[in-house]
Amino acid sequence: MKAALVYFSGTGNTWRTAHLYAAHLGRFGWATDVCPVESVLRQKLAPDIDRLGLGFPVNAFGPPRVVDRFLHALPPGEGRHAFVWAVAAGIVGGATAVVRDRLEAKGYRVVHEQAYLVPENGHWRWSDPAVAAMSKERAWNRVDRLVARAAGELATGRARRSRPGHIRQRLLSGSMWRWYLRSCEHAARYVSVTAACRPCGLCAAACPTGVMPSNPLEHAVGSDCTFCLRCASICPRQAITIRLLPGIIRFLHRHLEPGYAEVLAGARGGGKAPTQGEPFTPGEGAIDKAAVP
Ligand SMILES: Cc1cc2nc3c(=O)[nH]c(=O)nc-3n(C[C@H](O)[C@H](O)[C@H](O)COP(=O)(O)O)c2cc1C
Ligand code: SF4
Ligand code: SF4
Repeated sequence: MKAALVYFSGTGNTWRTAHLYAAHLGRFGWATDVCPVESVLRQKLAPDIDRLGLGFPVNAFGPPRVVDRFLHALPPGEGRHAFVWAVAAGIVGGATAVVRDRLEAKGYRVVHEQAYLVPENGHWRWSDPAVAAMSKERAWNRVDRLVARAAGELATGRARRSRPGHIRQRLLSGSMWRWYLRSCEHAARYVSVTAACRPCGLCAAACPTGVMPSNPLEHAVGSDCTFCLRCASICPRQAITIRLLPGIIRFLHRHLEPGYAEVLAGARGGGKAPTQGEPFTPGEGAIDKAAVP
């Protein structure tokens, strides 16, 4: 069985789960390609891929805008099996159901859905970073066990679907998500850069949608931000504040998941420019801004 594990990850948690899926599915003899969503936005799935796995962080009870874009651009599934997973800090809302419905509308057969809870990549300024790291490690041990179970179910064909939530919950989560999508179009209002910035270009190079300028003191952030917090987490001077989450960034010491900064750095150097209709050939390190519509 060959699976493409396409993921989006702002700060590295979903990236880590994608590799857990690859490792656990590998034990069942599956061949997997782990690939960031940014690199496949305009590509086709190669015909020899039997399964599409799509992982994403929950953003305002739904998938990130960049995943929404991916779902728009994705070619028809023609009955191909797919599975989805979401990574959240605490409340998943209707996120996996939104993605499942969109995939099914495109002709994919979604056979498995799973949500994982992992604390944010950050700790409160007044709290002990070692305690935060311990609680995160406990969460990852649990995620590892759940991914192992998911891999077993996928390999043996056992379906898992999220329960349809209460109508009020679905309405609330839908309206939050729509508000988030609208806010993404007005990023300049919400992403602010303070005078602590010494334009180094790190945030621009890491931005998955290419909206962060290389000198954010002189140029505004463009529209189509996906509010992934990558720029705020990578900035060595903590000069970026996302006002959509009032105050939180200021009180959190943010960071990327260990190892993820290196993946982002590799992606910057090793990207290949995909073109419309080119076969989907996943491989880590292929993030390319040309792929972002
Ligand atoms: C804009 C935004 C909205 C978020 N909304 C939610 C949410 O509705 N529910 C939740 O549990 N976590 C929410 N989170 C937290 C992320 O889902 C969580 O930190 C996740 O682990 C991030 O994964 P990543 O490191 O792959 O980006 C949100 C994060 C951001 C940046
Ligand atoms: S500007 Fe920052 S929050 Fe927005 S998409 Fe780029 S890295 Fe993510
Ligand atoms: S990473 Fe921070 S210091 Fe560097 S350009 Fe961006 S905001 Fe400025």
